[in-house]
Amino acid sequence: MNHPAIKEGRVALVTGGASGIGLAVAQKLRTQGMRIAIADRDEAALSEAAETMNGEVLTVLTDVSELAEVEALRDRVIDEYGEIGFLMNNAGRGFGGGAFSSLNGWQQVLGVNLWGVIHGLQTFTQLMIDQGTPCAIVNTGSKQGITNPPGDAAYNVSKAGVRSVTESLAHELRNIEGCQVTAHLLVPGFTYTGLIKRHIPEKPTGAWDPEQVADYLLKKMAMEKFYAICLDNDVSTELDNARILWNTNDIIEERPALSRWHPDYESEFNEFIREHAS
Ligand SMILES: NC(=O)c1ccc[n+]([C@@H]2O[C@H](COP(=O)([O-])OP(=O)(O)OC[C@H]3O[C@@H](n4cnc5c(N)ncnc54)[C@H](O)[C@@H]3O)[C@@H](O)[C@H]2O)c1
Repeated sequence: MNHPAIKEGRVALVTGGASGIGLAVAQKLRTQGMRIAIADRDEAALSEAAETMNGEVLTVLTDVSELAEVEALRDRVIDEYGEIGFLMNNAGRGFGGGAFSSLNGWQQVLGVNLWGVIHGLQTFTQLMIDQGTPCAIVNTGSKQGITNPPGDAAYNVSKAGVRSVTESLAHELRNIEGCQVTAHLLVPGFTYTGLIKRHIPEKPTGAWDPEQVADYLLKKMAMEKFYAICLDNDVSTELDNARILWNTNDIIEERPALSRWHPDYESEFNEFIREHAS
C-alpha cells in the first residue's frame, strides 16, 4: 500500500533532488513507475543524478530561494508532464550563524530552507488542489527545528519555520471541501548525505543512509501520517520523544531557555532521559 498520489504514471517533483535524501526519494519513486523531475541549483550534481536514473528524469536548474525560478520550474514541469502528484520541498543548506552573527548566513539559510519551502507552497499548492486528484506535499524539516540545539540558530529558525508552515498547510488543506492534497513533514535523523560528507569524509556508524530515510517517509505516508520523524543508528523514537518533551517542558516549568544544555540542569536532564528512554 502506498499513499494514493504515489502511483505509476503520476509525476513527482523533488527540490534539492540532485543529492542525498531528495535523490534517494526520487530514485524510490521512479522504481514505483512515477515520472520524475528534480530541481537543484548544482548543475553538475543534476547531471550525475540523471545518470543514476538512465536519463529518465527531467532536471531543472533552479534556485528555490528565487520565486521567479520556482515559477519557471512549475512551467517547465507542467509543459513536460502536464501535472504534479508529489511535491517535495527539500532543498536545504546549513551553517547560517549564531543568534547575533553572520547576517549574510542568516539570509542565505532562511532564503533556501524557509523561503524555498514557502515559494514551493505558493507556486504549487493551488495548482495541485485544482487538479482534483490525490496529491502529496512533503516539506523537509529537521529535529533542530523542534529541539533548537545550540550551534546554528539560523538553521534552527529556518526548520522551526518549516515545521510551522507545514502544520498550518495540513490544517488548511483538510478544511477545504473535497481537497485531495495531503501535507507531510519529513524530519530526518542524522543522515549521511552531501550536507554531511562535506565535513565528515567517512560515514559515521550512527548515521542512516538517505535510502533509509526515503523508505521511512514512504512508509509513514502510506500509513496516512503527517509526521515522519526518522530515527538513526544512535537515536531511538523513545530518546527523540524524551528530548522533545524536555524541550517543551522548558516553557511549562519556566526553566531557562535550552535548559538541556545548561550546566545547572545536567543531572536532572540525564535522569529524565534515563526515566523516559531506557
Ligand atoms: N543529512 C541530515 O542529517 C539531515 C538532517 C535533518 C534535515 N536534513 C535536511 O534534509 C534536506 C536534504 O539535505 P541532504 O542532507 O540530503 O543534503 P544534500 O546536500 O545531499 O542535498 C541538498 C541538496 O539541496 C540543494 N540545494 C541547496 N541550495 C539550493 C537552492 N537554493 N536551490 C535548489 N537546490 C538547492 C543542494 O545542491 C543539494 O543537492 C535539507 O533540507 C536538510 O536540511 C538533513
